[in-house]
Amino acid sequence: MHATISAFGAYVPERRVTNDELAQSVDTSDEWIQSHTGIRERRIAAPDQAASDLGIAAGRAALERRGIGPETVDMVIVASSTTDYPNFPSTASIIQDRLGCVNAGAFDISAGCTGFAYGLELARSLVEAGSAATVLLIAAETLTKITNWDDRNSCVLFGDGAGAAVFEAGEENGSGTRVLHSWLKSKGSGDAALIRHVGGSRTPFDPAVHTAADMQIYMDGRAVYLFAVDAVVRTIQALCDKEQIEPRELDWIVPHQANIRIIEAAAKRLKLPMDLFFTNLDRYANTSAASIPLAIKEMIDQDLLKTGQRVLTVGFGAGLSYGGNLLRW
Ligand code: UT7
Repeated sequence: MHATISAFGAYVPERRVTNDELAQSVDTSDEWIQSHTGIRERRIAAPDQAASDLGIAAGRAALERRGIGPETVDMVIVASSTTDYPNFPSTASIIQDRLGCVNAGAFDISAGCTGFAYGLELARSLVEAGSAATVLLIAAETLTKITNWDDRNSCVLFGDGAGAAVFEAGEENGSGTRVLHSWLKSKGSGDAALIRHVGGSRTPFDPAVHTAADMQIYMDGRAVYLFAVDAVVRTIQALCDKEQIEPRELDWIVPHQANIRIIEAAAKRLKLPMDLFFTNLDRYANTSAASIPLAIKEMIDQDLLKTGQRVLTVGFGAGLSYGGNLLRW
């Protein structure tokens, strides 16, 4: 039995915030943000929008595109670093209920910005093992809710959004998008480079000692940058080795949309043209685990993905986690 990805969906909040608007409240400029990251604007969730609200919209869009009802879903998996509540209940359970997936199990996965790549392999495995006939994989992120808006080193980088994919059991030689290979890795020794220091079991929040900033994103940008370039290069090479092809034989690379300079540096090291890489980070910034499915959904809408193409996803982020998937479209 083979797992087929039968539909994608995506959702971004309506509110669009340009670099110039951000520069009114943060000590930064459109020129600095564009030249150092490639970002022009990002979407920001409304005060009453949580990750599940974005995920529900993306999940519903994917099910509608496929034309199946929510009751057919056996498992809801949600990749998120910005779950509705700290750790429990799972955001997947909230989405399972609100979407009407009445026959489904539900759980979250935490793999930082690499969450969707991990989720693709997990969903594939569940279907191919016969454990679930239909899996709804969602990446839903509201990073702007945990951003330290006084830290210009990080706050200009993030945006909110969600993406979703429907997995189903398909025939051995049937058509449809498939995960051919996955390569999923962790470099936990780099954990301190991207972290929320307070609010977990290591350091519970103590109002006498801690401030809200201690519970927000802390990032060593330079350390993450150096790790990321290496991670992207190694993931692309490893997945191509598994398929016994050269990277230039790929049709598309869909990288985590964090910073155009990371993608350019990786492309240069691999001697690959930039037009092999799809990017939309100029409009959405870094939406963590949601960035890859958001990009794929845009590629579908622009009719860029054709049957038979080899499409490589590559992510990196908190953990530090990294890895990707080779898809056959
Ligand atoms: O999903 C993974 C999430 N994280 C990432 O992908 C982040 C990876 N890292 C990066 O993308 C880059 O390291 C950054 C974009 C965060 C920073 O770019 P950089 O070219 O490495 O800048 P830098 O940290 O070397 O800082 C250069 C200067 C500093 O000023 P001084 O010390 O040279 O006077 C910063 O204070 O730029 C300053 N700076 C800013 N200036 C205006 C840092 N952030 C800003 C800002 N606006 N937003």
